[in-house]
Amino acid sequence: MQKPTRIAPSILSADFAKLGEEVRAIDAAGADYIHVDVMDGHFVPNITIGPDVVKALRRHSDKIFDVHLMIQPVDPYIEAFAAAGADIITAHFESGPHTHRTVQAIKAQGVKAGISLNPSTPESNLEYLYEEVDLILVMSVNPGFGGQHFITSQLRKLEAIRKRIDSLGLDIDLQVDGGVNAVTARQVVSAGADLLVAGSATFKGGPEHYAANIKALRG
Ligand code: DX5
Ligand code: ZN
Repeated sequence: MQKPTRIAPSILSADFAKLGEEVRAIDAAGADYIHVDVMDGHFVPNITIGPDVVKALRRHSDKIFDVHLMIQPVDPYIEAFAAAGADIITAHFESGPHTHRTVQAIKAQGVKAGISLNPSTPESNLEYLYEEVDLILVMSVNPGFGGQHFITSQLRKLEAIRKRIDSLGLDIDLQVDGGVNAVTARQVVSAGADLLVAGSATFKGGPEHYAANIKALRG
């Protein structure tokens, strides 16, 4: 069943020179999850942060730390991100041939497991993973950068996955990431998403706007 809309600001759009302060600000502004984008310059053409930064940020918020790994290989780093304080670790379907093993490795750390699909990856790849995951992340941009345009074909993918989750009667967060703003937020929610990642739309205008920005996304 689709849950009430929750917002996961991506700290990729925060001021990296004061990340702790930025995490406290989005926490106070009503963020539900704190979305952390981890990029390696190999799986995606950008490099961001590692487990030490997650660990340092952990003491700035008690909200759910939702760690999105865009790295390849992914398995060798799962333990470090769990130890750093991740509550959910999401790995990409495309970052290795053994997605099922990766999901088990995440769960073995005692954290929730998410699986993410790039825009060109069909939802049918999830068929034997539904029972295993806590979160499914539909990328509505090609991963690597904030501030890109929403790819509308992903609405169909969200609809199909929502149907499948509900017909199986499973409790899985259906998350969408990339190009989510006050307009596309409405579209993704009607397509079945219940957890919205938003980087630029959360952080635009600076700290005094965060609460209103999050409220606008929640609809
Ligand atoms: C992209 C990241 C996103 C990104 C979203 O690879 O996974 O989380 O920060 O940024 P916006 O919301 O600006 O599209
Ligand atoms: Zn992300």
